[in-house]
Amino acid sequence: MITALVPGSFDPPTKGHLDVVERCTTLFDQVVVGVILNPSKSPMFTSDERVAMLEECCVQWDNVRVATFQGLLVDFAHHVGARTVVKGLRAVTDFDYEIQMSQMNRHLAGDVVSLFVATKPEFGYLSSSLVKEVARLGGDVEALVPPNVASALKERLA
Ligand code: PNS
Repeated sequence: MITALVPGSFDPPTKGHLDVVERCTTLFDQVVVGVILNPSKSPMFTSDERVAMLEECCVQWDNVRVATFQGLLVDFAHHVGARTVVKGLRAVTDFDYEIQMSQMNRHLAGDVVSLFVATKPEFGYLSSSLVKEVARLGGDVEALVPPNVASALKERLA
């Protein structure tokens, strides 16, 4: 059973995140989407809300489960039996940050491998922060996030 861990803040989940999860569903036996409990920035959605949104989005894949974590990512990877951590790369601007984290994770746990998936080009500009900004300013986010997330944003900002 080969398990991949797809970690993130998911505040909120976007179509870019789900694109990465979908790629993993065909490459791995099991995929754990790991929602960090205390993202450094103060989140718009609680961890329970982020988990519920992700579970609804991922119900279409029977080899995906959603879980929360705190502390070191590599400890959580060990806990769920994942030796592979998968992150999406949107553009070269992601690279500096991601390579630094993956090298630190490698230092901390040499048995955990970071893999990077290039996101769909149409999601290259997509981030949770920009989605929140657009939604806050009354812009249309329907094409950027799944329908349940668009509804949750509308409700939160009403
Ligand atoms: O969606 P994000 O905000 O880019 O996700 C970042 C995340 C959760 C993957 C990252 O913050 C993380 O791995 N946090 C766990 C803390 C950790 O292990 N730090 C030390 C190694 S870099």
